[in-house]
Amino acid sequence: MKLDKRFKFSVACDGGAASGKTTGAKIIAKKYGLNFLSSGSLYRYAGYRVLKDKPKNKINFLKKIFKNLKIKKLNKINLNTSKISDYTSLLAKDRRVRIILKKYQQKFAKENTKPIIEGRDISTVILPKADVKFFFKCSLDVAAKRRFKEFRKKKYKITFNEVKKAIKIRDYRDKNRAISPLIQAKDAVIVQSDKLNIFDMTNKMSKFIERKLKKKYGS
Ligand code: C5P
Repeated sequence: MKLDKRFKFSVACDGGAASGKTTGAKIIAKKYGLNFLSSGSLYRYAGYRVLKDKPKNKINFLKKIFKNLKIKKLNKINLNTSKISDYTSLLAKDRRVRIILKKYQQKFAKENTKPIIEGRDISTVILPKADVKFFFKCSLDVAAKRRFKEFRKKKYKITFNEVKKAIKIRDYRDKNRAISPLIQAKDAVIVQSDKLNIFDMTNKMSKFIERKLKKKYGS
């Protein structure tokens, strides 16, 4: 069931590192014809460019590069290295950086009538009025296993314990920062991704999406 342009429908997916939010959001986007955006990729791109270009004034630099950034560009760069992950979560604490990326994400949501955005503060800050909000939860062990498997596929030299430690640190930073921390919105549906396989996880998400669609547009 793909939604055409007459529908206005937004979905927010939040959760910690490797909690399953990207996988879930991508499958749901494809199934219902929604416009997918990974806000993590935007933050990672900001981190990547600051590390690479070492600008004197980070904020002016980021303002400039996000003005005309095409999302497709992000798929061509490997943004998933440990160094970028770690630096990004430090940069993401900066209120001024968050303002730049908030603007970018809200423009995306305005230009696309059916956005599904995944990240940390989508339900609380970016799309506070989203039609459906999901909050992904996953044990540290399962999250680390997932990430470790991805790294192994790419032949990165990293141990399981290093992956686990890095996720733990990053989640702690994201949950405890002063601005837009990772928190569960009151009206979010919990998706316990370590207790579900991908099929059951997306079935659960579909159930809530279809319930809301019915309520909004009738059957
Ligand atoms: O989702 P992903 O792991 O790719 O995000 C990388 C980092 O970007 C997170 O650890 C977090 O510090 C930051 N981020 C954020 N807010 C978002 C998305 C990502 O602070 N909405």
